Amino acid sequence: MNELPVSWCNAVTLRCSRRSYDKSRPIGKDAGEKLQRVCGEFRPFSSSRVEFVAEPPDDIFSRALGFYGNIKNAPSFLAFIGDMSDGNVQEKMGYTGEGIILEATSLGLGTCWVALTYRSKSALSMLKLKDGEKLLAVSPVGYTMEAWTFGENVFSAFGANRKRKPLAGMVSGLDNSHRPLWAEKAVEAARLAPSATNRQPWAFHIGLASITVSISGSSPQYNVSKRLDCGIAMLHIELGALSCGITGKWELLKQAQVARFTADRP
Ligand SMILES: Cc1cc2nc3c(=O)[nH]c(=O)nc-3n(C[C@H](O)[C@H](O)[C@H](O)COP(=O)(O)O)c2cc1C
Repeated sequence: MNELPVSWCNAVTLRCSRRSYDKSRPIGKDAGEKLQRVCGEFRPFSSSRVEFVAEPPDDIFSRALGFYGNIKNAPSFLAFIGDMSDGNVQEKMGYTGEGIILEATSLGLGTCWVALTYRSKSALSMLKLKDGEKLLAVSPVGYTMEAWTFGENVFSAFGANRKRKPLAGMVSGLDNSHRPLWAEKAVEAARLAPSATNRQPWAFHIGLASITVSISGSSPQYNVSKRLDCGIAMLHIELGALSCGITGKWELLKQAQVARFTADRP
């Protein structure tokens, strides 16, 4: 897959974490095959990959933690697998994994990145990892209950509200009146990106034809790399730009910066 699908631009605004699935509605052959195919085709980096596991994930999600409730009745799951010999594996995993999450959203399926409230041993028993690879996160995938359940709204504490920090606090660089429209749309899309515990650990610097993503804030690590969250935001930036017809290239950067997107034209 050389270009990002335009359908993912729309999925950015539709996606939200779902934790209650419809037992009576299996994913079906067409959607399952499409997801499988896109997992194989969307491999922008050799060190990160996503596997679609069609079988029910047994007790993988039977774990709650603090404010997170259990994930219920997931019919299938996605496994986010990284090769740990690559020092940039976390941001690459976030970028790659979010592509598959947005593909699932485009297919009308619910998802939820899960790096904390799952049993990795159970998940690993259903996967084949290569030497040096690690399971970095999973996601349930399937049709959701029509209505938001009480648990989804209350236990997640985020639910449909999509609580996000104000854009002004996370963006620096060119002032509002000088920002190109594509850059505005890009940071708006990045603001909607999911992050572990909704910590939104990112800052965006808008240059003349570029956006630099850095790690920001003192939110807890929870054993989940903030570079993974930033990788997710990177894909959202690219899709926000694409919604204005702008493409560009990523350059990976060193701590505490993550990456810079430079537009092919200003
Ligand atoms: C890397 C990552 C790890 C996450 N881990 C969990 C988890 O362990 N359990 C869970 O229920 N949600 C988890 N989430 C979902 C976040 O809580 C959710 O994305 C965030 O609250 C924003 O809500 P939204 O996805 O509905 O926009 C995770 C999200 C990300 C990106």
